[in-house]
Amino acid sequence: MKGVILAGGLGTRLYPLTKITNKHLLPVFDKPMIYYPLATLIDAGIKDVLIVTGGNHAGEFLRLLGNGKELNLKEIHYTYQSREKGIADALRLAEDFADGEKMIVVLGDNLFGESIKPYVAKFSKQREGAKILLKKINNPQRFGVADFKNGKVLSIEEKPKKPKSNYAVTGLYMYDSKIFDYIRELKISNRGEYEITDINNMYLKEGKLTCDILKGYWTDCGTCEALFRANVLIAKNQGVNFEDLL
Ligand code: G1P
Repeated sequence: MKGVILAGGLGTRLYPLTKITNKHLLPVFDKPMIYYPLATLIDAGIKDVLIVTGGNHAGEFLRLLGNGKELNLKEIHYTYQSREKGIADALRLAEDFADGEKMIVVLGDNLFGESIKPYVAKFSKQREGAKILLKKINNPQRFGVADFKNGKVLSIEEKPKKPKSNYAVTGLYMYDSKIFDYIRELKISNRGEYEITDINNMYLKEGKLTCDILKGYWTDCGTCEALFRANVLIAKNQGVNFEDLL
């Protein structure tokens, strides 16, 4: 299976932090943010990774990650997105890289407190379709939210004002190559993006979307609060004692 990390976008919710660099290069405790989703993929056995980025700081990813050999990757590829039109739009650029294989897509600002190996193993046995990972959280309004009953997703809504459940759709998705046909069918949303939630709903309609529930922590770094939380979670995980610190 191949891995794709989406590391584009403008990161406007983090201004002015993102005025002179790309969000995914900002520090989270002792490493640049992108190291964490990269480690999640490497831990799951992925050897071939594509970084999709854009904007004015794309070259910095090459300086940081090089050819991926230091990270034990067989191959690291880079591509450049020339517009910010959402996650599904950025994924168009991965079609040649995927080359008909299944892929794991992770948003470059998503941090996972557990190994995704068991979920990847299940997906590699899934004949076709897609898999999403859900996390039960308070106040999921800022995310995709799954209406979820008896282990089954019934529908997914993007950033609903009144969420039907507490299950947020995390930024780690597994797809078969059918995704590229779905992207071509996709209409732009009211907020001017090609929504990954619409893609997931297309798989759902075909009865080909499975899900798993995460047990460990999960956070994105899309807002100042979330980025701060990510720093705290990673620092705690690495044994930093906050009592001693303050
Ligand atoms: C995106 C997706 C959303 C998902 C989230 C996870 O939101 O659209 O469905 O729950 O990533 O981080 P965005 O980062 O664009 O606000």
